[in-house]
Amino acid sequence: MRKIAVIGACGQIGTELVLALRKEHGAENVLATDIRENCPEMLNNGPYLHMDVLDRQTVEGLFKSGEYEQVYLLAAMLSATAEKKPHFAWKLNMESLFTILDLAKDGHIKKIFWPSSIAVFGPNSPKIDTPQHSVLEPTTVYGISKLAGEKWCLYYNQQFGVDVRSIRYPGLISYKSAPGGGTTDYAIEIFHSAKRNEAFVSFLDQNQTLPMMYMDDAIRATLELMEAPSDKIKVRTSYNLRGCSFSPKEITSEIQNFIPSFKTIYKPDFRQKIASSWPNSIDDSYAKNDWNWENKIDLKDIVKTMLENV
Ligand code: SER
Repeated sequence: MRKIAVIGACGQIGTELVLALRKEHGAENVLATDIRENCPEMLNNGPYLHMDVLDRQTVEGLFKSGEYEQVYLLAAMLSATAEKKPHFAWKLNMESLFTILDLAKDGHIKKIFWPSSIAVFGPNSPKIDTPQHSVLEPTTVYGISKLAGEKWCLYYNQQFGVDVRSIRYPGLISYKSAPGGGTTDYAIEIFHSAKRNEAFVSFLDQNQTLPMMYMDDAIRATLELMEAPSDKIKVRTSYNLRGCSFSPKEITSEIQNFIPSFKTIYKPDFRQKIASSWPNSIDDSYAKNDWNWENKIDLKDIVKTMLENV
């Protein structure tokens, strides 16, 4: 049996994706790899490799064995951190992708998953129900790297037949692993404040609505996309996915249904500008039509689950 590798396995998506893949394919068949020396305890049930994805020689050595059929490339710098380290963000987000695309082009990997983001949209994209094919004029380094990456995925698919699949994730909410460096991270931090009985200081404006999704839906979407027959995957840039949309004010009021004394204080910083360039909500009819995608978890469920588990 051919194996699966997840690069960037210790991050917010990686941790949960590795667990889900191991459940489906057997723990010994799913390699977790990350630049972190030690992986989270949760991933101790299967193989772990400490690897820097920018070390092209080592990455090539690993995959030229032909042992790995599928690679999920999740190593990346997210929107807020990328604004602080633009050149390194570009290098990390792009070079890692080229390494894996080239390995697939040369026949060493059969299928790739690479995440894109709502950050590919910009201030000139329609804000409500932003369509799959829309104005793509990102204003962040992260968004520019994701848009370029999407185009390269399409190019490798069309020119070399590389089976690469992608999702434009909205902000992802989860409690098992912490997010890092994103603009949507506030929607997780808010639960930690609520559980500590502290007021939450929001770095976004109270009315800044953003597209969000609970991690379980995001993981299911990823697995469903990867399992769909290749001829169903008509979008080879990256699929829009709709979860639920809400603002800091709306999530605060949902939390107040459980903790009435909870308060949010608004002190927008540089991340507000990033958020205001992104859509409020997403149209995902292509994902629905092509591989029967359907979001299941709404804001009410998210708040309940997060407050119970954080
Ligand atoms: N959650 C990401 C971020 O905020 C968006 O893809 O950077």
